Amino acid sequence: MTVKTFHTSRFFIKNQCYLIHENNTGILIDPAWNYKLINRYLQDNQITLAGILLTHSHIDHSHLAEKFARQYRVPVFLSGIETDHFQFDCINLQRVLHMQEISLAGFNITPILTPGHTPGSVCYLIDQHLFSGDSIFIEGVGICAGKDIYKLYNTIQFMKQYLHKDTLFWPGHSFTEQPGKDMDFLLRHNIYFQLKSKEHFLNFRMKTNGSPLKIWWYDITYGIITFLTTGKFPHAGLFKS
Ligand SMILES: [Fe+2]
Repeated sequence: MTVKTFHTSRFFIKNQCYLIHENNTGILIDPAWNYKLINRYLQDNQITLAGILLTHSHIDHSHLAEKFARQYRVPVFLSGIETDHFQFDCINLQRVLHMQEISLAGFNITPILTPGHTPGSVCYLIDQHLFSGDSIFIEGVGICAGKDIYKLYNTIQFMKQYLHKDTLFWPGHSFTEQPGKDMDFLLRHNIYFQLKSKEHFLNFRMKTNGSPLKIWWYDITYGIITFLTTGKFPHAGLFKS
């Protein structure tokens, strides 16, 4: 199985979208911002699209789901919790559950619910590859607020127990490290995998990216970008459960 990374951006938001493919069949993960780039790769490599996986509903991860789903007539997968919370809608939308086994065009996919960044965030485990959206980055974790920080702590503890050390992480954004690092790397370099108590986790988070001002700034920024992209403001608070 090949993992192709697309680096896409809009305004100042830089994303990593992924295509996994094998035997000329592929699945897109979090397609956003650059339709031509992604579609040209599909066509140049004669890859038939079988489906789309969304880690969460934020516009920088879901922007092109509708367009690809409509064009290729494929299903779009998103957690039911996320769908309900944000009233997300999309053609061919299918709700996924925690640890549900999905078999799609020869790929075996395990969604792992990872609340924290959003209430219904989900990571997808396919072979030894984990597509982690904004839940887990190579360098840290996604932004979250209030009591969601504890959910994120529980998410990290679950990952430490459940995933093998050779699991490769493919996050939605990267800041200093390239995507595709393994679990062993994260255990040594991602401080959120090293903090052993909820209190330490919370305290460290609040000192870095957890201040109310920063959450407010992210809410406003994502709201504006969603409006500029879709003509609508997002439903409810982006980072509140
Ligand atoms: Fe996000």
